[in-house]
Amino acid sequence: MKNGALWTDISGQPIHAHGGWILQYGDAYYWYGEDRRDRNYVSCYRSTNLSDWEFRNHILTMDSPMRTYRVRTTLKLQRDDGGKVNLERPKVLYNEKTGKFVLWAHYENGKDYLDAAAAVATCDTPDGDFTYHGHFNPYGYMSRDCTLFQDDDGTAYFISASRDNADMHVYRLSDDYMNVDALVHRLWQGEYREAPAVTKIGGRYYMLSSFCTGWAPNQGRYAVSDSMEGRWSALRDIGDETTYHSQPAFILQKDGKVLYFGDRWGGNGEKYFESGYVVYPLIEKDGELHMLYTDESVL
Ligand code: GAL
Repeated sequence: MKNGALWTDISGQPIHAHGGWILQYGDAYYWYGEDRRDRNYVSCYRSTNLSDWEFRNHILTMDSPMRTYRVRTTLKLQRDDGGKVNLERPKVLYNEKTGKFVLWAHYENGKDYLDAAAAVATCDTPDGDFTYHGHFNPYGYMSRDCTLFQDDDGTAYFISASRDNADMHVYRLSDDYMNVDALVHRLWQGEYREAPAVTKIGGRYYMLSSFCTGWAPNQGRYAVSDSMEGRWSALRDIGDETTYHSQPAFILQKDGKVLYFGDRWGGNGEKYFESGYVVYPLIEKDGELHMLYTDESVL
């Protein structure tokens, strides 16, 4: 699997799971991501070794079942003119208490980026048909590029770019992961960070992000903290001035290795479908995080 290429699944078809996320559940890994083909929004692939991926399902589409679960959300999986909305950077956690797989994503109306909302969907299985519960602006705030993070005690966080991307908000989620429970941080005020991705190494929390330049890659940066709700460091550079030609999608830990998954975006329109993937190792040394460049993915 060459870094930057559009990888294929075990049937030889391109994997469309961009801006994605991998959830480890049972003895398998589930890779979720954007699939903008046809009436699809989010796809799910499964693997036991991170290299051989089996396509499982289009878990969220224009035709997904919808159910309101609280008052102030909007249920809209297609525009009034029948066109597609835009669901980006989907992330999924398993909630032990409810037994549900809960998906959060960035919602836009498909024409511009002015809705800046968070969307939620759930399912009883990792790769079944998800039920869509709508989009909303957390506490009224804009919410664009996003990620989830689940701490060891089950506490989960939704992290998203707000105020036209100027600030990075960190929300603690409610116990059932269905709503934000508190806005615990507004990080790096005015720094325009996007594409957040969090991991925990040796009891410390590391958050990677990109700068805000659309599909074009830029210098990745990271920060570190002793707790999700505590004080985060200033931003420090990681990788080179294009983050080795990628933008963060998520970070996965496997067998003691810390793996950075990034998108190498093709661009707008048809170019989007040429977007590929990279996996680079992250090394923590004396509290600093380093990204190693490799031609081949390190899976
Ligand atoms: C990027 C963002 C992507 C997508 C793109 C659209 O900055 O990280 O997820 O929204 O802009 O231009």
